[in-house]
Amino acid sequence: MTNLLQNSNFLRACRREAVDHTPIWLMRQAGRYMPEYRAIRAKHTMLDVIRTPELAAEITLQPINAFGMDAAIIFSDILPPLVGMGLELEFVKGEGPVIYNPISTTADIEKLQTPPAEENMGFTLEAIRLVTAELTPRGVPLIGFAGAPFTLASYAIEGGSSKNYEKTKALMYQFPEAWDMLMRKLAIVQADYLRKQAQAGASALQLFDSWAGLALGTQDYVRYIRPYNQLIFTELEKANVPTINFSTGTAHYLDEVAACGGTVIGVDWRIPLDVAWEKVGYDRAVQGNLDPTVLLTEWEFVQERVDDVLGRVNGRSGHIFNLGHGIFPTVPTDTVKRLVAYVQENTQR
Ligand code: CP3
Repeated sequence: MTNLLQNSNFLRACRREAVDHTPIWLMRQAGRYMPEYRAIRAKHTMLDVIRTPELAAEITLQPINAFGMDAAIIFSDILPPLVGMGLELEFVKGEGPVIYNPISTTADIEKLQTPPAEENMGFTLEAIRLVTAELTPRGVPLIGFAGAPFTLASYAIEGGSSKNYEKTKALMYQFPEAWDMLMRKLAIVQADYLRKQAQAGASALQLFDSWAGLALGTQDYVRYIRPYNQLIFTELEKANVPTINFSTGTAHYLDEVAACGGTVIGVDWRIPLDVAWEKVGYDRAVQGNLDPTVLLTEWEFVQERVDDVLGRVNGRSGHIFNLGHGIFPTVPTDTVKRLVAYVQENTQR
């Protein structure tokens, strides 16, 4: 059973070994573009679903059963670990995540708790056990994930999504010691959470630093983000599973992103994949990088753009097909079905 999993195309690609076909999964693959997901969400809030292991497990399996992706990702969100640290989180319909008591002072940061994951995120660890009981015999790996310190700090400080990250960057620039304390606390909580996800059965771990590159240039990334992501990846070496280091807007400094660690580097859609891979280095696997809006167009155009991504890989081992960022709720399920089948069938070796 373990062999079936270890020999899966997804895990082989993480290790840059030869594959039968290029593995594909899609960021946000369990979600609103699926009618099965919307049916569950019509009856339960987002946080209720996340906190009910049976529901989270069911949603995780929905895209695998409908489209046959090569890996599943556990259904949760990056923000719930903040709750046990002392932040009041809600997902508000039409608005997205809101934190009602955002942090702004050193005293706020001192007060933040660093609870162990079994206390803080036990429901997701249980969901991972339920999903892997189902997927391991089928040879389908499950990806666990967490948010990276900067992306989480931006929500904790701004109180929600942000465009310019004004408060976050003001704190970061003006109070470097407070920033260091905050980023360390976040790194400790996320590293612990990720390790426990591997112990619960996750076969790979993805760190989402979704807003790093949209907020910070190269020097600030190196100074204010990299040390903390590095802390996490160093800690995760003990987990003995491949790690995926994902960010967006970092195309011009992907070498610095790669320097944080990660078995696989996630690439967004703002850079051609061959250029990205050269910057990252061929000693790493890469994941990406179809522009998610392409899935809103007619199939012929989708196919053209998928061929472009695959052409840039040029048969090299160590590519995991994905979007450059999460799938949109408006994507037709038929396009997803065709995409998964197309990548799996047209990359057979
Ligand atoms: O990938 C998966 O299928 C696993 C589930 C997953 C969700 N969020 C579910 C979700 C993952 C991996 C995430 C990560 C996440 N969450 C990120 C990083 C990845 C990225 O896309 O950049 C970020 C920044 C968040 C924070 C977040 N969660 C926002 C900004 C929002 C509101 C905007 C939106 O897309 O709805 C969410 C809500 C959220 N997370 C939903 C889902 C399925 C929608 C909830 C709903 O209305 O049903």
